[in-house]
Amino acid sequence: MSRPSSDRPSVLVTGGAGYIGSVLVRMLLSRGYPVVVLDRLMYENYHLLDLFERPGFRFVRGDVLEGAELARAFEGVEAVVHLAAIVGDAACARDAAAAIAGNVEGTARVLEQCLARHVERLLFASTCSVYGAGGDGELFEDSAQNPVSLYAETKVRCEELLLDKSNGLAPTVLRLSTLHGFSPRMRFDLALNFFAMQGTLSGRVTIDGARHWRPMLHVYDVARAFVACLEAPREKVAGQVFNVGSNRENYRMEAFREIIPQCIPGAEVQIHANVVDRRSYRVNFDKIRGALGYDTVRSARDGLVEVHRLVASGLIADPQSAKYRN
Ligand SMILES: NC(=O)c1ccc[n+]([C@@H]2O[C@H](COP(=O)([O-])OP(=O)(O)OC[C@H]3O[C@@H](n4cnc5c(N)ncnc54)[C@H](O)[C@@H]3O)[C@@H](O)[C@H]2O)c1
Repeated sequence: MSRPSSDRPSVLVTGGAGYIGSVLVRMLLSRGYPVVVLDRLMYENYHLLDLFERPGFRFVRGDVLEGAELARAFEGVEAVVHLAAIVGDAACARDAAAAIAGNVEGTARVLEQCLARHVERLLFASTCSVYGAGGDGELFEDSAQNPVSLYAETKVRCEELLLDKSNGLAPTVLRLSTLHGFSPRMRFDLALNFFAMQGTLSGRVTIDGARHWRPMLHVYDVARAFVACLEAPREKVAGQVFNVGSNRENYRMEAFREIIPQCIPGAEVQIHANVVDRRSYRVNFDKIRGALGYDTVRSARDGLVEVHRLVASGLIADPQSAKYRN
């Protein structure tokens, strides 16, 4: 474990107690970055407790929409990773006004603070679901957006806000694939994590939308992508949009009929043609690879095996509890 180093910028991670943040914050600290987390702790989050006395770690409990709390979190900060949001289609659909405020207004407040304090590096967690119902062709960063949920619409609006050249800052937008894998803040509502939990607890997995495309990304690899953007020369990332994932990790959902039993022995998979979720997108990841030399090191199989082992271990007493879903 390295100690915070004075040549590493101090990084504010909003939403840092969440699924991604709990992995990213530890990765940043272990690389010597001083880290501030601002989080309102929506999900019984005790996932950062072990960091309380770690040198270089500071926690601010608060909301990005609350000026005083946001200002306190920004003290001494030189770079920002903005993760805080109401995350996922279901959570946004439950309370549209809160989703628009938390995601769009919240991002505007973070941008304002960066401008006021001359924080030049702002990385934003967007999603490949901005491509929505995307068909079979590969989707690039400049492909048309076709969001099919309020969640994705809020992310489109955040991107527009951040990439508007007149605002004087040049943030970096990372469009993340669908995540999977172990995090100290576990989420079992994410597709692969859900399949691994179902397969482990009941031996049966049901999948909707056989022909749909979805790119998958391990949570460890997403943390690596944020670090790669923080450490890249500014001119390579400023004002850029990157799809984050790997061309190898685009799957039609029906592929999991074979993959799941290979990862979870004895699991039976049923594929339903009926489509609840209209999202389908097959994404190209050449840009981030070309610009930053970034590629993933973990696969969907790795995530399925890992989450299967986690659930089978019994370490999480009740994986079906609402606290593991958004
Ligand atoms: N998990 C995925 O598959 C995925 C995919 C693409 C993009 N993303 C994006 O990555 C980011 C993090 O996602 P996650 O999976 O870690 O979600 P998460 O729900 O686990 O974490 C979000 C965290 O933000 C906090 N938060 C929410 N609103 C806040 C506010 N107004 N002020 C302060 N804190 C607030 C919550 O308490 C929570 O700890 C989000 O912006 C999400 O849209 C996630």
